[in-house]
Amino acid sequence: MATLAPPVPDFATLPELAADVFTAPLRRPAHVGEDWLEPRQADYSAEEHRIWDDLFARQMEVLPGRACSAFMAGLDKLDLGRGGVPEFGRLSEQLGRLTGWRVVPVPMLIPDHVFFWHLANRRFPAGNFIRSRESFDYIEEPDVFHDVFGHVPMLTDPTYADYMQEYGRAGWKAMRYNRLKALGALYWYTVEFGLILEGGTDLRAYGAGILSGPTEARFAVEGQSPNRIMLNVDRVMRTDYVISDLQPTYFVIESFADLYRQTVERDFDRLYRSLAPGFTYANAAVIDVDNVLHRGTQEYHLRGGRGSGAVPV
Ligand SMILES: [Fe+2]
Repeated sequence: MATLAPPVPDFATLPELAADVFTAPLRRPAHVGEDWLEPRQADYSAEEHRIWDDLFARQMEVLPGRACSAFMAGLDKLDLGRGGVPEFGRLSEQLGRLTGWRVVPVPMLIPDHVFFWHLANRRFPAGNFIRSRESFDYIEEPDVFHDVFGHVPMLTDPTYADYMQEYGRAGWKAMRYNRLKALGALYWYTVEFGLILEGGTDLRAYGAGILSGPTEARFAVEGQSPNRIMLNVDRVMRTDYVISDLQPTYFVIESFADLYRQTVERDFDRLYRSLAPGFTYANAAVIDVDNVLHRGTQEYHLRGGRGSGAVPV
């Protein structure tokens, strides 16, 4: 007989982690508390504000016609192109009025359970620092441009905003079943690298990993190399992912309402019990049950991918 999982906490305060739950051992800087929040947003130099402006201008050459309507509308609603790194207080006020979300500064990547807790409370933790000119094109750790430009406009969409909160709640459940990897894959293929078929025909990007970089918007939306497969939550949570290169496969949603429904109506208790500890499918695999929009050539990855000189086509 299956044992009953303990009840999901109410998230008003950071819930206690059970002793047998594994989380990555990140060292907490001395100046932040259990919530990992910076006391205030960083002061940025004039050059750092210019870096934001240059990154913003570069993305605006690529994104119209490739980013989803909700994202483009969010940029406008929050006036993210007004110049310089946005002030989190102002963003939080505007977002608060629209969907009840806030943007809060964190020093770096934060532990999963703390990240989930903030999401469950409609707080989006954003990196405090901004990349340097030397790492203009590619950064390993998310900075304020990735987090604020890439993620925050989507939080102006009410359905998407609800999805992100549900994701945070789901995180606590996944930890209890030791299935964080599977939930991580769902985040990866939706929040970071998701595509949406607007109006049933118009393929656009909504994932922040696509929207905050110069190359992947073209590759994800128009490239011949990657697979594009309609999203199925069970399938995606069994699929491996790489974090250091363009994606061999993108998953496509019909609408944010569909994404929300697939996530909220799924019985995750049952799903987690049925998942193997590791991933079942390679990230380039196409399987029998897939509803395939585009079967990719995988040419970019077959030629060696990042660092090989292969053209992302
Ligand atoms: Fe991100």
